[in-house]
Amino acid sequence: MKLNLDNNPPVSIAAGCLVIGVTDGGSLSPSAQAVDEASGGAISRMLTSGDIDTGLAKTTLLLGLSGLATQRVLVAGFGKPDKLTLARFDRGCLAAGKTLRDHPLTDCHVCIHDLEFAGLETETRLKQAALAIHRANYLYTATKPHKDDSPAPLRSASFQGGAELKSTIEAARAFAAGFETAKNLGDLPPNICTPAYLAQEAVRIAQKYDRIELEVLEEDDMAKLGMDALLGVSRGSANRARLIVLNYAGGKTGQRPVVLIGKGVTFDSGGLSLKSGENMMQMKYDMCGAAGVLGAFVACVNLQMSVNVICIVAAVENMPDGDAYRPGDVITSMSGKTIEVLNTDAEGRLVLCDAITYCQKFDPDVIIDAATLTGACVVALGHHATGLISNDDELAEDLLTAGNAVVDRAWRLPLWEEYQTQLDSPFADMKNVGGMPAGVLTAACFLSRFAEDQRWAHLDVAGSAWKWGSDEGASGRPVGLLAQYLLNRSDEQ
Ligand code: BES
Ligand code: MN
Ligand code: ZN
Repeated sequence: MKLNLDNNPPVSIAAGCLVIGVTDGGSLSPSAQAVDEASGGAISRMLTSGDIDTGLAKTTLLLGLSGLATQRVLVAGFGKPDKLTLARFDRGCLAAGKTLRDHPLTDCHVCIHDLEFAGLETETRLKQAALAIHRANYLYTATKPHKDDSPAPLRSASFQGGAELKSTIEAARAFAAGFETAKNLGDLPPNICTPAYLAQEAVRIAQKYDRIELEVLEEDDMAKLGMDALLGVSRGSANRARLIVLNYAGGKTGQRPVVLIGKGVTFDSGGLSLKSGENMMQMKYDMCGAAGVLGAFVACVNLQMSVNVICIVAAVENMPDGDAYRPGDVITSMSGKTIEVLNTDAEGRLVLCDAITYCQKFDPDVIIDAATLTGACVVALGHHATGLISNDDELAEDLLTAGNAVVDRAWRLPLWEEYQTQLDSPFADMKNVGGMPAGVLTAACFLSRFAEDQRWAHLDVAGSAWKWGSDEGASGRPVGLLAQYLLNRSDEQ
């Protein structure tokens, strides 16, 4: 879906649908007022009569108003004006996007970012509106082509605004491309989206954009480096692992890079510590951390941001097999630290720890990993917040701020050393599980031992990266948070 700006008067724009926003209480935004005047007061009459619902995420579609170049006006409700935050605004925009998606339209013109609230800038509202409408328009087609008897996705959306908003709409386009990359990868079935497929996707990204170098390590290469933790997980699978390393030099030469690392477990059966059927069927999404860092990387290179970024995907499948690693095995990670594997289902940390050690060769400024790491994170934070754990307050703060700015929000959890003892093992430097209490934190404790004194943050996206049940699918998170973090760094240059 193309995202554009159009600064003509809304009433003269002949798009399939014009989208305006209203709040409780009836004071009209500039675009709503223009539509109201052109249509002889139709909007205010329907607000008074109650035919337009101004509640948050309520939408009303009006057909054939007079005085307008368009046939349709979609009125999106945003509820109480004094309660309006960016997160609520996002929900209202998403609802508008879903209504647009469900109607036979090929394009629309959106004005809802002229609703003013809570001191937020037009740029912030425009970007959020564009991202929400783009997100709502997404349709998975890789293995289920769209049928003609249901509404097709919109082909383009224009947004009210002129040249002063050019860089904002460009950012929205780049972020949207990143989200789309992550959603597509996340939604693919595990028989298609294998480690080799993720490597192919990296090749496509490297070919499409400038200033990128790509290196893909095969299992032999990893064995030479001593990555036995990562390779241990992979041993049970017929799909060979890959370590994918994308290097984008957008910043100054010699500037230390941001390293993004994604957990790319393309299917997590649990290995010999086999998951139950019910817990297994969602595990094609266990590469959503990888999808997220690849998507953020796409957003970054698409905007040609002024940052040096290394994006590493640890792509592995976790399967049971005669050659699979076992509970009880002690393996030696690339760092030399030994790990007693007590549960082969705690594989994400084993895959990530070698990637964290490997990335030291790039002399990173910060390391950020994204991973669907623990079911415990879903218990703790549900589906709205990503779990954030970091050994650096400033980095944690920067990531939280970035997430809030695009409503891809994270919540910080403590990395106190007291939790570390849960990983003590009589047979190795550490166990790979820490028992029931604070599972999300002991997983992070495990990773922290490999980040050592590097500035590092871990994003547990187990609850936020996809939705189960009705409306199932990958969310594309944490593309927004990561891309915004990179953009903030780029703007500081
Ligand atoms: N990929 C899972 C985590 C997960 C579970 C994500 C459910 C989303 C929903 C991870 O590899 C895993 O299996 N973790 C175990 C760790 C445990 C064995 C310590 C878990 O959370 O149960
Ligand atoms: Mn697992
Ligand atoms: Zn997993």
